[in-house]
Amino acid sequence: MTKVKVESNIYSLLNPGSVVLVSAGDGEREGVFAVSWNMPVRKDPPMVAFESSQGHFTYQFVRKTGEFGINIPEAKMVNQVLGCGKVSGKTGVDKFAKFELGRRQAEKIKAPLVETAFANLECRVSQIVDMGASALVIGQVVAAVADDQHFQNGQLVFDNGLELLHHLGGNRFCVSDRVIIGE
Ligand SMILES: Cc1cc2nc3c(=O)[nH]c(=O)nc-3n(C[C@H](O)[C@H](O)[C@H](O)COP(=O)(O)O)c2cc1C
Repeated sequence: MTKVKVESNIYSLLNPGSVVLVSAGDGEREGVFAVSWNMPVRKDPPMVAFESSQGHFTYQFVRKTGEFGINIPEAKMVNQVLGCGKVSGKTGVDKFAKFELGRRQAEKIKAPLVETAFANLECRVSQIVDMGASALVIGQVVAAVADDQHFQNGQLVFDNGLELLHHLGGNRFCVSDRVIIGE
C-alpha cells in the first residue's frame, strides 16, 4: 500500500454519519439547514451533537429556544439537501416551501420538523461548546419517529430501498444502502 500525504480536507477521510437537516424556529420564524458534521454521543439517555457556524440563520433559533429537530433524509432528497445547505434563511427564503420539505408537527418541542425526511429526532440543547466562529451543539433526544418501512425492531432496514446520504464535500456524496454482518 502506498500512502499519500494528506494536507487539506482531512475531515473528508472521516466519512460522517448520514447528512441531516437541522430545523429550529421561535414560533414566528424558522430555519432548516444541511449538517454533515453530526453524531450520536450517548446511548442512554440518547444524546446527539452537531457543528454549526454561529452565523447560520437557523442557529440563532437553536440558541434562543434551546430546541432543534434532526431530520434524516434519504438519498433521493440530495438536491433538497444541497439547496438547504447552499441557501441561507437570511435571504428571506422559506426553505420548507422552496424545497417542498413538508412540515411535521413535533410531539415534544416547538421546532418544525421535515415531513419528507424518513426519520425525525426532537432534541433539547444540553450544552453548547463555543468554538469561535462555530459551535458544537449537544442535545438530548426527547422524542423520535422513523418510517416503519426502514426502521424495524430497533434497526435500520435497507431491504425496502432505503439509501442514506453521506457528504464527501462540495456536491459529492456517497450512499449507504445495505448491511454487512461481521463474524
Ligand atoms: C451537504 C452539506 C453539509 C453541510 N454541513 C454543515 C455542517 O455540518 N455545519 C455547518 O455549520 N454548516 C454546514 N453546511 C452549510 C450550511 O448548511 C449552509 O451554510 C446553510 O445555508 C445555512 O443555512 P441557514 O443560514 O439558513 O441556517 C453544509 C452544507 C451542505 C451543502
